[in-house]
Amino acid sequence: MPDLALYIHWPFCLSKCPYCDFNSHVRERIPQARMVAALRAELAFEAARLGTRRLTSIFFGGGTPSLLDPDNVAALIGDALRLFEPADDIEITLEANPTSIEAARFAGYAAAGVNRVSIGVQSFDPAALRFLGREHTAGQSQAAIELAREIFPRLSFDLIYARPGQTEAGWRAELEVALGLAADHLSLYQLTIEPGTKFATLYDRGEFTLPEPVLAATLYDATAEAAAAFGLRQYEISNYAKPGRESRHNCTYWRYLDYAGIGPGAHGRLTLADGLFATSRHRAPEAWADLVETRGTGVTVEEPVTPEQRAREALLMGLRLTDGIELSVYESRTGTALMDAIDQDIMRAAVDEGYLTVSPTHLVATAEGRKRLDALLPALAK
Ligand SMILES: C[S@@+](CC[C@H](N)C(=O)[O-])C[C@H]1O[C@@H](n2cnc3c(N)ncnc32)[C@H](O)[C@@H]1O
Ligand code: SF4
Repeated sequence: MPDLALYIHWPFCLSKCPYCDFNSHVRERIPQARMVAALRAELAFEAARLGTRRLTSIFFGGGTPSLLDPDNVAALIGDALRLFEPADDIEITLEANPTSIEAARFAGYAAAGVNRVSIGVQSFDPAALRFLGREHTAGQSQAAIELAREIFPRLSFDLIYARPGQTEAGWRAELEVALGLAADHLSLYQLTIEPGTKFATLYDRGEFTLPEPVLAATLYDATAEAAAAFGLRQYEISNYAKPGRESRHNCTYWRYLDYAGIGPGAHGRLTLADGLFATSRHRAPEAWADLVETRGTGVTVEEPVTPEQRAREALLMGLRLTDGIELSVYESRTGTALMDAIDQDIMRAAVDEGYLTVSPTHLVATAEGRKRLDALLPALAK
């Protein structure tokens, strides 16, 4: 059976950021013991049916997993390492927010087995942090990064750019600060307005505007250029790493390999005895925990992924990678040759226009192509 990546969702945050549509919730008192017991039960449920697969990564995502007590992180990691067959170089990442309280738990996470943190810095500009509704200062971010560099072998942090009023000079200056603090990985996201968020309401009311597409494209190009000068290669649309330091866990998604997702709202793509299945779980934390307590899992949907869906999903994920899609991996995962799954006329036109390249082993979106994936993909998939 294929190797496995494990995603563990922690659904709570101290406050809800106005741009964020992740499955995150604010509670006066977080029911940590109950939620951890339910996560451990779901882990046992998945392990019982998946058998002893080789486990290549664990990712604690959220929400804000750095609200978890290190002992609970240790318990979950201990279960996972016992229930599966961990790879020698297993990558264990935890997403952390950079408040001082959370940074104080870093040593505990390292002792629990976490070997990579991903810190939600978002910006080094005080006004931008206020606009983004963040609970931390730029100084706290810097302190958290410096501490994490001493404690963890691998470190990434996130920034959000293409914000209202941002200029190229302003972003380049902020990037310089970021690159001065960076270790082996950065995630640099363009601000998107997600439906149902507070930003969507404000944006629809005209209370702020986003940079024009031409400026947004300039900011994107400046990002890749500055990161490359620092030795961080853009390996995915929003992700930059030193060679060999790419996020192995996230590459599992982009390469369309197997992953189990546990916790409220988590998704999975799992090879079971009768083929590839998509799983999803109840999104509301307490309702999810009720389900786990009554029947061992909060899974609400588990359905086979049809060959057409597989082809589309693998294309959608794989073209985000700078190295593109490996044709042999695609075929083994989807049961279809990639060239049979895409519209050949559209592909040839996209190649002629410089948006795609095809070799005997790979289909790759060029830098220009990756900027246009939203338009290219629906046309390309049959
Ligand atoms: C699950 S969240 C991060 C976890 C952690 N709670 C935090 O806030 O630092 C993953 C990342 O997605 C990015 N993100 C979330 N919503 C976004 C949006 N609307 N536009 C751009 N980036 C976004 C942020 O950089 C965030 O750090
Ligand atoms: S960005 Fe992070 S801290 Fe903010 S609401 Fe989303 S998950 Fe929570």
